[in-house]
Amino acid sequence: MAASNLGVAANKNPFRIDGKVALVTGGGQGIGEAAAHILAQAGAKVILVGRNEVRLNSVASEINHFGKAEYITAELSSEKEIIVLVEEITRRNFEIDILVNNAAIGQWKPATEITADEWDLMIRTNLSSVFWLSQKLGAKMIARKYGKIINISSISGIIVNSEHPHVHYGSSKAGVIHLTKSLAAEWAKFGVRVNCITPGYTSTKMLTDLLATPEGKHIGRRIKELTPMGEMATPEDIGNGILYFASPASDYVTGQILSIDGGYTLW
Ligand SMILES: NC(=O)c1ccc[n+]([C@@H]2O[C@H](COP(=O)([O-])OP(=O)(O)OC[C@H]3O[C@@H](n4cnc5c(N)ncnc54)[C@H](O)[C@@H]3O)[C@@H](O)[C@H]2O)c1
Repeated sequence: MAASNLGVAANKNPFRIDGKVALVTGGGQGIGEAAAHILAQAGAKVILVGRNEVRLNSVASEINHFGKAEYITAELSSEKEIIVLVEEITRRNFEIDILVNNAAIGQWKPATEITADEWDLMIRTNLSSVFWLSQKLGAKMIARKYGKIINISSISGIIVNSEHPHVHYGSSKAGVIHLTKSLAAEWAKFGVRVNCITPGYTSTKMLTDLLATPEGKHIGRRIKELTPMGEMATPEDIGNGILYFASPASDYVTGQILSIDGGYTLW
């Protein structure tokens, strides 16, 4: 019988990720910003990626007071730009252990009014970018036989939101869920785990901007009524789930979809 190593395990915090390098897209605000702080507090060096240099610089500076962070500006809705981003990652010798595909856009609009350009931009930003970046950084993870990819989908990828229409957003997020399962199955044998979080309504700029639209004005109260826990999530609630998937605590977990939604999808 193998000797138990429980005594050794008890001294090791499975949520520490010291020495790992984590790339967070959309890291300049909201859930991405919170995740970057939490991953850095857990010991990772964080590479923030996004298009707002002022925000990225500000978040990186805050993190550098207690941890390590750098940033790269990139437009993620284009494969060409993602190729340039990956070249920059290589030029700076960053070996990415943890990829958090978080950046996305939102819009509330009836299906009959969504234009071809709006549909296309939603799918490229929220779904295609997740595939392109996972494909290119995943290839490097496969070569190193280690990687953790965490995709941020949404409860809107699982259910149809009763309070506002957004078929293009929901479709993009449903796609992220299938992409997660497919890549997880394909890459498990290479030591690359791919998991997904489906946040419920979370108090970030994306949501407050939507709630400020004419369609969104009355919805804030309804969201609380529809949530068993009676409150929206904080960005940190989602960031803590990201840390779970990024850390050794989830080493035997792949292809899973974790709803952090205060019970919203139960009713
Ligand atoms: N806030 C919510 O209620 C909620 C609910 C469910 C899921 N989510 C998901 O969580 C993730 C984060 O959302 P958030 O609320 O923090 O949003 P947010 O709008 O506050 O932040 C999104 C970030 O992504 C960046 N981004 C968007 N498009 C980009 C592009 N083309 N290239 C580069 N960067 C780009 C933005 O600049 C921003 O920094 C998203 O995937 C979102 O769909 C949010």
